[in-house]
Amino acid sequence: MPAARLSFSPAFPVAPVRRRLFGSFVEHLGRCVYGGIYDPAHPSADADGFRLDVLELVRELGVTVVRYPGGNFVSGYRWEDGVGPREGRPVRLDPAWHSIETNEVGLGEFSRWAGRAGVEPMLAVNLGTRGVQEALDLLEYANHPSGTHLSDLRVAHGAPDPYRIRLWCLGNEMDGPWQLGHRTAQEYGRLAAETARAMRMVDPGLELVACGSSHSGMPTFGGWESTVLELALDHVDHISAHAYYAQTDGDLGSYLASAVDMDRTISSVVATADAVAARARSPRRVTVSFDEWNVWHRPSEAPRDDWPRAPRISEDLFTVADAVVAGDLLVTLLRHSDRVAVACQAQLVNVIAPIRAEPVGPAWRQTIFHPFALTARLARGVVLRTELDTPEYDSMRYGRVPLVAAAVTHDADGGELMVFAVNRGRREPVDLTLDLAAVPGYALVEHTVLAEDDLTAVNTREAPERVRPRALPVPVEPAATLPPVSWNALRLRRQ
Ligand code: AHR
Repeated sequence: MPAARLSFSPAFPVAPVRRRLFGSFVEHLGRCVYGGIYDPAHPSADADGFRLDVLELVRELGVTVVRYPGGNFVSGYRWEDGVGPREGRPVRLDPAWHSIETNEVGLGEFSRWAGRAGVEPMLAVNLGTRGVQEALDLLEYANHPSGTHLSDLRVAHGAPDPYRIRLWCLGNEMDGPWQLGHRTAQEYGRLAAETARAMRMVDPGLELVACGSSHSGMPTFGGWESTVLELALDHVDHISAHAYYAQTDGDLGSYLASAVDMDRTISSVVATADAVAARARSPRRVTVSFDEWNVWHRPSEAPRDDWPRAPRISEDLFTVADAVVAGDLLVTLLRHSDRVAVACQAQLVNVIAPIRAEPVGPAWRQTIFHPFALTARLARGVVLRTELDTPEYDSMRYGRVPLVAAAVTHDADGGELMVFAVNRGRREPVDLTLDLAAVPGYALVEHTVLAEDDLTAVNTREAPERVRPRALPVPVEPAATLPPVSWNALRLRRQ
């Protein structure tokens, strides 16, 4: 059996476990909002039309921050359409997803939903078809207490308290030719800097995210970040990164190594941001907002020729292999906790989502729900630096890659250590030895695994519990057997 050895020490922390790494994303896309979080016709809906069964699953998932309202959608969105009395809200074309937008849900409804879900809202402004003034108007409506036209409008709309939204995205994927109002790096960098400067004149405490590249395969990747940050370095806190992974051409080996690409993407963006700061003789350390990440089987769908309401778009059914890859992506995000400040799995319900919901039917957990929920619940304290001695394998897409990936978190007060580990190998289990020399008195007490012989197994409406984590027997030795293609959570307690 291949063997790996993991060493770590509380003397070498990476950073605190940032709760904002367990973020998600709700876009006006397909059935994420309408028929997802909101479905007034559903038996479980509350007075506001929110599905309580979905809300319950969102809480169980452990989501901490939710990005809204897009995505590609935001680049053509007029936020004013979604506030005030529902009967007066306009029905519009949404060119981004070729759908009809009824505006039944807008900022007020989302804020109420976020309050009930116990999540921090992360709001995106439209820098596609709009600009500085509209961003300022939205900020005044959302965050100013009262006594001005737009804040009083919010009060008149039934929200006496400001929403106090701290985290804002300056547009979405502005490097992509598919984006409404797509711009060059120079054009976007100027717009982002000016919008940020204006928003900070209203509230210097805002945290602002500039758009990075839509994915690391973009021809402008790197150059885009460099130009944007040269123009906006002093005005923004974070630069975004996005990545979706799929198995292509039956190449499971590369798919299982997707986290290697995410790792390289983060390192490249951080290096670029630091290089810009170095050239500017600036001590600023811009952090990464990985505000769209996931596995996604069909990133591009056939163009539509109709204008449906809340169509079924990207309702992927996720497999066991998908869950292992998604868990591995979370391991990578944790390992980069020093420079990744926010991360949002895209998306939350129905669309590329850990939660599926059917009209008049049930809501259930997809396979990818489980590694997320367990990591969000169990990762506490600080992330520790690790030394991992692991075999490697050849992948077609990424060359030689590690067979095992792992992240370690340590909650010194609670006396708990967590090891999140993935075996990317398709054939054999791996014997993972934990070097506990630096944590005397700790012992392995729990081994939870997500693995199945059938890597294509999925959770469906008919069989919602087909794939779920299982407990494995805990050996006396500080070692664990990681089954082939598995995501594992190993809990150690101070005795
Ligand atoms: O999450 C789905 C879409 O993927 C988003 O709208 C867009 O930002 C990205 O390309």
